[in-house]
Amino acid sequence: MKGLILSGGSGRRLRPLTHTSAKQLVPIANKPILHYVVEDLVTAGVVDIGIVVGDTGDEVRASVGDGSRWGASVTYVDQEAPLGLAHAVLVAGEFLGDDPFVMYLGDNMFEDSLERVVDGFVESGEAARLLLARVADPSAFGVAELDDAGNIVDLIEKPADPPSDLALVGVYLFGPAIHEAVRSIEPSARGELEITDAIQCLLADGATVDHRVLDGWWIDTGKKDPLLACNRLVLARLAGTGVVVDDEAEVGDSTLVGPVVVGAGARIVDSTVGPSVAVGEGCRIEGSTVVDSVLMDGSAVLGCRRVVASVLGREAKVQRTRSADGPADDAAVDLSVLLGDHSVVDLAGGVDDARGWDG
Ligand code: TTP
Repeated sequence: MKGLILSGGSGRRLRPLTHTSAKQLVPIANKPILHYVVEDLVTAGVVDIGIVVGDTGDEVRASVGDGSRWGASVTYVDQEAPLGLAHAVLVAGEFLGDDPFVMYLGDNMFEDSLERVVDGFVESGEAARLLLARVADPSAFGVAELDDAGNIVDLIEKPADPPSDLALVGVYLFGPAIHEAVRSIEPSARGELEITDAIQCLLADGATVDHRVLDGWWIDTGKKDPLLACNRLVLARLAGTGVVVDDEAEVGDSTLVGPVVVGAGARIVDSTVGPSVAVGEGCRIEGSTVVDSVLMDGSAVLGCRRVVASVLGREAKVQRTRSADGPADDAAVDLSVLLGDHSVVDLAGGVDDARGWDG
């Protein structure tokens, strides 16, 4: 069985971070989401992996390499534009051949292991096996309609009147019949080749489309709040209520409230950090409180009373500059930001104030 990870796309909902970087490489607990996806596949015994990439392909290649560090073999497939999940299958046709495969969205994370989902698929003769999750707002998803026997009879993209609360989530298992299906469909109103339309073709042909319902959590990390929710869950799994501080990090006169991870070369002084904060390599936190946040490598929080629910891109900086009249009066304000790489936020006071944080 092969794996196909979708790591192209435009990542509009995570701008400005995704202006400069792939959303699948945003770190969760200091490790790129995409690496968890590769590990999940390898654990399920899937080691021949294709990764579909777009504009951010070079960065994805640099991060994942040839897959040998996981005992996998990775082939990159270029997609000229994010023209839909079914389009990704189309462009990966040569890599996939006639092998059954797992398609895994590269920005999705699951609590359940993939092993249980793929178990028995190759022998089953099923044309597809879909992963479904019960969701509170089915009209935001592709939704499955099941008959009384529990078989999928229809799939409806973002239905106004959902037939169930079972949404399609980011893992799909396919046999070779999907290739003809993706070739036969037309772009949808939003201009994409929809995988739901291709699966509809399988259903119309009378092929077997089975499903599994997820037990544990599932998160599409493509927006800030779900990304932070995922960071909380994975940090808790990794560190419990403890802290994991790299030997090469420096922590002084500070309180770390777990779960917290701190990467190599980070410097935390005179601060309170946590719970649920991932501090990347080379970050600086000085004279600040940071809660429930992801600080990507080289970013800094300096002199800020309270930064919460924030994502700071690489080398981004939030600082309070002190004006000549003394510290700014921001005592009542919790700061929550999503900053792209190299962004700078100055709170009160001027950047040219010599008495400010010398960032
Ligand atoms: P989405 O999150 O649905 O799309 P997107 O990346 O364009 O994001 P946004 O809506 O915020 O602009 O895509 C799910 C995953 O599939 C994601 O990892 C990107 C990837 N993808 C491709 O590789 N090729 C594609 O054509 C599309 C649509 C998505």
